[in-house]
Amino acid sequence: MSGHGTPIPMTSRKCGPLKGEARVPGDKSISHRSLILGALSVGETRISGLLEGEDVLDTAKAMRAFGAEVVDHGGGNWSVHGVGVGGFAEPENVIDCGNSGTGVRLIMGAMATTPITATFTGDASLNKRPMARVTDPIALFGARSYGRSGGRLPMTIVGAETPVPVTYTTPMPSAQVKSAVLLAGLNAPGQTVVIEAEATRDHTERMLAGFGAEISVEDVPEGRRITLTGQPELKPQVIAVPRDPSSAAFPVCAALIVEGSDVLVPNIGLNPTRAGLFTTLREMGADLTYENERFEGGEPVADLRAKFSPDLKGIEVDPARAASMIDEYPILSVVAAFAQGDTVMKGVKELRVKESDRIDAMAKGLRACGVEVEEGEDWWIVKGRGHGNVPGGATCESHLDHRIAMSFMCLGMAAENPVSVDDGAPIATSFPIFEALMADLGADIVRTAG
Ligand code: S3P
Repeated sequence: MSGHGTPIPMTSRKCGPLKGEARVPGDKSISHRSLILGALSVGETRISGLLEGEDVLDTAKAMRAFGAEVVDHGGGNWSVHGVGVGGFAEPENVIDCGNSGTGVRLIMGAMATTPITATFTGDASLNKRPMARVTDPIALFGARSYGRSGGRLPMTIVGAETPVPVTYTTPMPSAQVKSAVLLAGLNAPGQTVVIEAEATRDHTERMLAGFGAEISVEDVPEGRRITLTGQPELKPQVIAVPRDPSSAAFPVCAALIVEGSDVLVPNIGLNPTRAGLFTTLREMGADLTYENERFEGGEPVADLRAKFSPDLKGIEVDPARAASMIDEYPILSVVAAFAQGDTVMKGVKELRVKESDRIDAMAKGLRACGVEVEEGEDWWIVKGRGHGNVPGGATCESHLDHRIAMSFMCLGMAAENPVSVDDGAPIATSFPIFEALMADLGADIVRTAG
């Protein structure tokens, strides 16, 4: 759980070329889902390559609290002995999801149609984030929720005694909301339908099918329509978690802006609902190539090679691509600072309700580092200064947000003056080996006295 400990200030200095292989950890979204779906199966699910970041470890603890047997076998190998759909026990204590919106929202959905009561809390960041986006749809199944004002955590959910299936159109592009509704639908009789106007990451749909649920997806005039038949017996799986494209984004983007760099990031999942950043970077003129393209576990995978790209240009990012790169805008804004011209990012108001208000957090830090940024409620523009012309030299606030902290550390690798963050501790939520991995490539990041 981040945010409970001592802040870890960090400083990143301009470094020589980044070179070598960056083996980034397992995918965060798939790791959470592996544990939750494993806990809802009958029998033993085995997982390799699980992301052992704080967010996922909090979900593992939560699954134990709901009655599953979750065992860490070391080296990213875990097993989950599930209790079956509808088999969750009532937790004896408060469920602390730390920093993780994905963890808390998916687990709320997963318990909403079982007649038990659970209370959820998180760190200072999570307790500010909106939960009505999940409590509204689970109320339609018959669940009740009692939270703080504005639908904030801590919050108690009373699961439905006699759940009814639901047809729900998500009011915002959110894989967490879609997934919460589908997980709630698992223990409702009949068919639960979710309609989303824009495609968001589809790991829940793919994995539910893998676990043996009856689920279908069709394109309809309103968007994507997902139909799930309730009360299946989920069958345990053997899951190899692919490496996280959202974590790969940091060494990839750092290599593009640090002179002379050549970094290979092997075995990255390129599911189209996740890979929007890489398309955008290529449009900006990045020297980014896919090597050894293949399919693994039904997902497209490749090794990414990123090389220093001195002639990056600002572009208008296609807003239709926003959902497929929603976690990557902070690091994209760093690359944009080193490009020539404006990078325009529209249709991104969801960035304001992530682990932090990511537009505000990046805009403040970039400005402090000498980069001009304009912003509105759902758009922002970074005015690129070109390579060799980004001043840096500021301490930026990470606002308990791992991706903000890592983005500013990458900025420091290529800026003219060192860049610091007040607190790099949240990096451990999603990318616990970030400092070591970047140091191996040649980065100069140090923990500084507070
Ligand atoms: C996630 C969905 C996204 C993303 C988050 C992980 C998921 O959130 O930002 O990091 O695993 O479903 P939203 O559903 O809020 O867009």
